Amino acid sequence: MTALWWQTGVIYQIYPRSFQDTNGDGIGDLKGIERRLDYLASLGVDAIWISPIYPSPMADFGYDIVDYCGIDSRFGALADFDDLLVQAHARGLKVLLDFVPNHTSDRHPWFVESRSSRDNPKRDWYIWRDPAPDGGPPNNWISDFGGSAWEWDEATGQCYYHAFLKEQADLNWRNPAVQTAMYDVMRFWFDRGVDGFRQPAMGDMHRVLQLHSTDQPEVHAVAADMRAIADSYGAKGQGDRVLIGEIYLPVDRLMHYYGQERAGVHLPFNFQLVEASWEARSLALLIANYEAALPPGGWPNWVLGNHDRPRVAAKRGQAQARIAAMLLLTLRGTPTLYYGDELGLTDVAIPPAQVRDPRGLREPGLALGRDPVRTPMPWDGSENAGFSTARPWLPLNADWPKRNVAQMAEEPHSILTLYRRLLALRRAHLALSIGDFALLDAEGDVLAYERRHGAERLVVALNLGGRSHRLELPDWASDCRPLVSTVADATLAGDGALLLRADEGVILTTN
Ligand code: GLC
Repeated sequence: MTALWWQTGVIYQIYPRSFQDTNGDGIGDLKGIERRLDYLASLGVDAIWISPIYPSPMADFGYDIVDYCGIDSRFGALADFDDLLVQAHARGLKVLLDFVPNHTSDRHPWFVESRSSRDNPKRDWYIWRDPAPDGGPPNNWISDFGGSAWEWDEATGQCYYHAFLKEQADLNWRNPAVQTAMYDVMRFWFDRGVDGFRQPAMGDMHRVLQLHSTDQPEVHAVAADMRAIADSYGAKGQGDRVLIGEIYLPVDRLMHYYGQERAGVHLPFNFQLVEASWEARSLALLIANYEAALPPGGWPNWVLGNHDRPRVAAKRGQAQARIAAMLLLTLRGTPTLYYGDELGLTDVAIPPAQVRDPRGLREPGLALGRDPVRTPMPWDGSENAGFSTARPWLPLNADWPKRNVAQMAEEPHSILTLYRRLLALRRAHLALSIGDFALLDAEGDVLAYERRHGAERLVVALNLGGRSHRLELPDWASDCRPLVSTVADATLAGDGALLLRADEGVILTTN
């Protein structure tokens, strides 16, 4: 098999408001991302995925879009995007955009037309229903941000559906005109040279069982259409453009998104490590089940966090955040890193007066806000951590004078240095990206597996606990040597066993 870039590569997610500000408004921008491309290239990632940068009233920070084919002035202009693309490509970095097909802003011209009258040609571009006989919402569907998913429209006497905020009206994907318009959006960006999309598909609402509002059978035909568009851009239909689906579903249903004969998205995001209990045996089972559930030719992928979920270092602590890094970068499949995780950034406490996320504002007290995981990237020890000359839109991590890129790049044992080493190893040893995967026998807190490609066999051994462990190595690995440890220089016991210290992860090679 000739591996494609999105199979061997590592994706790095950028939350653009928080990466790098260059125009002094306290909000990151496209020129800021461009300024930091050298950092990203030297870190060793292969692609960046940028959360939405389109014109938006920012009710949901860019996930409420008024123009799919433009750039919000807070982030720059289309010309800045084109520059960024050229500069990224010049460094061998691919650029993925967020495609938000589920809903538009309620200020999008399509919705403005749709709500203007019941017989407007765009009425059916959105989901309008009569209210219940008692005047209430048409049914019990709850929005992802709390409250009914239906909003009453006085002027036309009907309700429209919104899976998220009422400022985010859901498009009616059963309408072919909507499909055509949105496929044109994909072509617009593919024509400009973007390398792929991450596409949010549906949210996870827990208060009612979602039998009729998400994961509908027709969605697979839409995914196949999108896939065909993406594949039409690759050399000889080979498909070097990638589609990644944001799909929060149990593994069996998630697998359907690869599509019949892989006609669906290339990578349905696998969020299991985000939610998993951090316990060696259950992680081993989770990995084995996921590997076993993959359809033939379906390429795996792994994620530790994103702009919607608590950060990995907040959940697992600093020592285990290093183990998590080794796990993410040594499992079979495409890893996606979340900006700042390479610094061990944790969730930043946001004083109530500074809360910005609509989810946090609408359901206060439930700790649902996502601001803590969207704080500015700390670059150096200068004012505002080098992120901006102005007060950043969200507070910095309190420990930024120490926990910043410039400082940690100098420290031989920082998590940043570990990430760099792991990314370099992954690049140098194909076994780590595309090699076969097999679990190894291990007990207690140890998770161990083999990666194998050609003549090379690697052992990855991770101690998920705070006590040392002795791991008996299989015969074939008895004379292997350590490549890297999460703690310090790794040592072998010398008698066919590996002594893992507390919170230590090690990669060994037979070569
Ligand atoms: C996607 C995004 C999330 C956003 C939601 C609604 O799930 O990841 O941040 O709030 O869509 O637009």
